[in-house]
Amino acid sequence: MRRLVSLSVLSLLLVPGAASAQGPSEEPMGTLGELMRGLMFVSANKLFDAQAQEPGGELPEMSPEVSEAVSALMGPTSARFASIYRGWPDLVGAAAALADGAKLAMIDGRLCDNGVSAPVGRADYIEGARLLEEYSVNVLNAAREQDYEGAWEAINYVTESCSHCHSTYRDGPDSRQEPRCQ
Ligand code: HEC
Repeated sequence: MRRLVSLSVLSLLLVPGAASAQGPSEEPMGTLGELMRGLMFVSANKLFDAQAQEPGGELPEMSPEVSEAVSALMGPTSARFASIYRGWPDLVGAAAALADGAKLAMIDGRLCDNGVSAPVGRADYIEGARLLEEYSVNVLNAAREQDYEGAWEAINYVTESCSHCHSTYRDGPDSRQEPRCQ
């Protein structure tokens, strides 16, 4: 028995890659537009929602009837799972996602929706990503302290970081028209 165990340990060591776990790749999987719609847009909207209404205690539980009606409208996922974290934890999470999302926007090799490389080498794009991180961290710190005034103020700046990039690389003179990312 003992010998069996040590043999299997040995074989683990001999299989390449088995001893050290392999994490996810470092390749970007989404286009920049997909990342923006999936992470920046969703998280930024949570910040703006918090500006419109102070994250308070838990909302009252929905009655089964209301919950069913909401599910019928929004689909079961958004009604049940997308709103599990509410209030301050939701704001904290959104701010953290934006701060770390700024790094994802800087990964080499990511393409824009139109197939052009994301301009990760351009100074104004880099500055936009840096601002997004800095301003989101300000929101993150205030939200962790549940400092509503501080968070409210800090959220005002976040849009500035978005437009720092968008004015050049997204919207152009003719808003929403090509060429993007150039
Ligand atoms: C580092 C630069 C940069 C920052 C910072 C940035 N964006 Fe973007 N964003 C872009 C670029 C470039 C595109 C165009 C991507 C493409 O076409 O693939 C884009 C596209 C988008 C889109 C897709 C729009 C469409 O027409 O489909 C949304 C939504 C968006 N950004 C939201 C945001 C928000 C909200 C923020 C701030 C919280 C933000 N972005 C911050 C560079 C940036």
